[in-house]
Amino acid sequence: MSTFAPQAAKRLRLSLPATTRQWTCRACAQQRAAFSSTSRSSEQQTTDRKSTRDEGTTHFGFSTVAESAKASRVGAVFSSVASSYDTMNDLMSLGIHRLWKDHFVRSLNPGIRPAFAPSGEPRGQKILDVAGGTGDIALRHLDHATNINRDSHTSVIISDINPDMLAEGQKRFKQSPYNRDGRVSFLEANAEDIHTIESNSIDLYTVAFGIRNFTHKDKALREAFRVLKPGGVFACLEFTPNLSNPVLNAIYKRWSFAAIPLIGQIVAADRDSYQYLVESIERFPTQREFMGMIKEAGFLIPGERGDGQEHVGWEDLSAGIAAIHKGVKPA
Ligand SMILES: C[S@@+](CC[C@H](N)C(=O)[O-])C[C@H]1O[C@@H](n2cnc3c(N)ncnc32)[C@H](O)[C@@H]1O
Repeated sequence: MSTFAPQAAKRLRLSLPATTRQWTCRACAQQRAAFSSTSRSSEQQTTDRKSTRDEGTTHFGFSTVAESAKASRVGAVFSSVASSYDTMNDLMSLGIHRLWKDHFVRSLNPGIRPAFAPSGEPRGQKILDVAGGTGDIALRHLDHATNINRDSHTSVIISDINPDMLAEGQKRFKQSPYNRDGRVSFLEANAEDIHTIESNSIDLYTVAFGIRNFTHKDKALREAFRVLKPGGVFACLEFTPNLSNPVLNAIYKRWSFAAIPLIGQIVAADRDSYQYLVESIERFPTQREFMGMIKEAGFLIPGERGDGQEHVGWEDLSAGIAAIHKGVKPA
């Protein structure tokens, strides 16, 4: 059994502080039109209603859809936003998403300093970045491992359900040394079923701003548990549905519901996708509820006392607009 994952878990800060329209391809435009929440064709609506009668439903932003329809609806959103995704992220968050991502990755300290690498073990960590999209997190993992930990062996699999988002990631990595030395690979897969990844094979599983789009978050968490090595770390960066300060919350909600779809409309000619993105944040569980889901999947929560009393099982960022959650697979 590898000793890397438990060691990695120890090295992480697991005692959390208590604390002009971008181009859009024709296929994407067609998909968007087909799936737009406001202009969906009646055929699609009929299909959704029919399958809703036959099976369970779930939410898609503020709409209710058949469970089987959600992944393709989410897929249409991300195919539509893929080419403008990085620019839009900067505009919508005023660049703050970069600080959150930097902090997220720093807090995980990816990579293994050569001096700490157990002899006889394969070198470096195996990281899986799920819903990795354009590769923002994966690039940070590799930069951190290389530049901070002087580790040139750690590798990252970028996994995403959406080929258009992955294609943007591939374009980006084409220019990077990590592509040439085989430290990055791409996998098109639904996070709820990553059977091509072996059980107990991953040191660090990350998911940033992705899990709120999954139809069955519990299934994805169980898959995360399965693929991680004992002692391996699950880490999630996600928006929260509410800020703890009600005044700030009201201002933030007003801003996000008014500005984000508008920026989407002006910059990417795509109001509906950005409307979905803000609505999906509202549907995500609270920090405490999500921590419960992580525990339910079998993870230990850093920061939880032995007596079962919770200190804090997550870290709020920017007054709680986003939060980092971590779980450790028992060794
Ligand atoms: C908001 S983007 C985040 C991308 C990247 N992690 C980042 O932080 O910039 C959400 C990503 O989740 C992906 N996604 C949505 N549902 C998914 C699923 N069921 N399985 C895997 N990826 C999914 C989308 O295709 C999209 O690339």
